[in-house]
Amino acid sequence: MSLETSMVGLTFKNPLLAGCAGITEWVYPVEKWLKAGAGGILAKSITTDPKLRSSIRPTFYTLSKYGLRGAMVEAELLSHYTPAQWAKEVAPRFKELCEHHDARWIQSIVGRGVDLDDWAELAQLVEAAGAEAIELDLGCPLAPGESESYDEIELGESPEITATLTKAVKAAVSVPVGIKLSPTIRRLDRVAVAAQTEGGADFCTAVNCPAGFHVDWENEEIYGPNTYVGYIPGPSLKWWGHWKVAQIKQACDLEVSGCGGIWKAGDAIQYILLGCPTVQMVSSVYFKGEQVFIDILEGIKRFMDTKGYESIESFRGNVLNNLKDYKDVPHEEVMQYPSPIVAQVAIEGCNFCGQCATACIHDAIECNAAESICTVIDERCIGCGFCSGLCPKNTISIIETSTKRTVWSGVGAVDPDWINW
Ligand SMILES: Cc1cc2nc3c(=O)[nH]c(=O)nc-3n(C[C@H](O)[C@H](O)[C@H](O)COP(=O)(O)O)c2cc1C
Repeated sequence: MSLETSMVGLTFKNPLLAGCAGITEWVYPVEKWLKAGAGGILAKSITTDPKLRSSIRPTFYTLSKYGLRGAMVEAELLSHYTPAQWAKEVAPRFKELCEHHDARWIQSIVGRGVDLDDWAELAQLVEAAGAEAIELDLGCPLAPGESESYDEIELGESPEITATLTKAVKAAVSVPVGIKLSPTIRRLDRVAVAAQTEGGADFCTAVNCPAGFHVDWENEEIYGPNTYVGYIPGPSLKWWGHWKVAQIKQACDLEVSGCGGIWKAGDAIQYILLGCPTVQMVSSVYFKGEQVFIDILEGIKRFMDTKGYESIESFRGNVLNNLKDYKDVPHEEVMQYPSPIVAQVAIEGCNFCGQCATACIHDAIECNAAESICTVIDERCIGCGFCSGLCPKNTISIIETSTKRTVWSGVGAVDPDWINW
């Protein structure tokens, strides 16, 4: 079995990259991730914009104490190193470490606004320093005032600006060039298509963090910096990431590195199933340290072993290949009531916990542990599926009433063809 994967012509010994953040700004932490087995680094964005090199300190505000494990509001802007300092002090060590650990090095950059020469020169400095690919961070949701260059524009929101910048950088360097995009852009597919077709982009990372902050309601103030500066990485981002990766992959041929909410092996595998050759982890590394690389690599190997997969390529994209456009999924023209599909409880497996009855806003389920009853009142059930997905024993299916065939068992995909049964 091999975990080897390739992206933009580079071979990675495994798909796991230490992602773009403070974890890849300094040499010392990077060495830890590489020793733990990371396949590469997507190193912290360096910038020519001095305002973006200075963050508010303290910078990290974890939300664990508010019951959100693994979540934080972070206020870190870009690398504090000037490009010249970085080229002298950091880049040579990244090169040496990556070579030593057989890991790939992709470097993120941010130029000044739409100053094409500035982006191109920064890219040339990075290429000369030995990075094997360059990523343009066009997806950072900067708050007004964080940088003069970005007060009026959000680069990655515009397909035209994205394409123009990518094209300028592509013309300046010979290594592969990618873009990093924000999940809050609704038609991210259009931006990605423009980046590839007009800008010549080779890859993209989806996704960056959305902006947000936490209101400390007990003290009646914002937790952390009292301004619009926070970004929210972590587990809740995974669902945005999946949606955006799929949207991009279905729209164009860009290779997409998956990022957002990767904490466990299953999270990484999900991105690979959506077609990503590599995945990046950031917040999980902050919370769990280098062990997260070891655990996720083990988990991917276990998955491949169980399924009999010899390579990453043999399952990459499996979910994407079956993902349909909304318009191609059969659905009722006019929804009928009483519903033609209803819940059905397999009573043998039921533990009478009553969660289904509590959750049913139509009171369509009667559950009584003392009498071992859990039944559905068909006329009330609207076939919404909530109880089926909720049932901890997986004993509630959704069936079509005339044929009694199963539409959904509470796991995996629904059979949307029921409307033709
Ligand atoms: C502290 C911190 C700093 C970050 N800095 C950058 C950055 O400089 N450039 C960039 O493209 N993304 C940056 N990001 C975004 C991450 O690379 C990543 O897209 C995001 O955290 C989602 O991944 P996660 O859920 O694994 O944390 C940063 C994230 C964090 C948490």
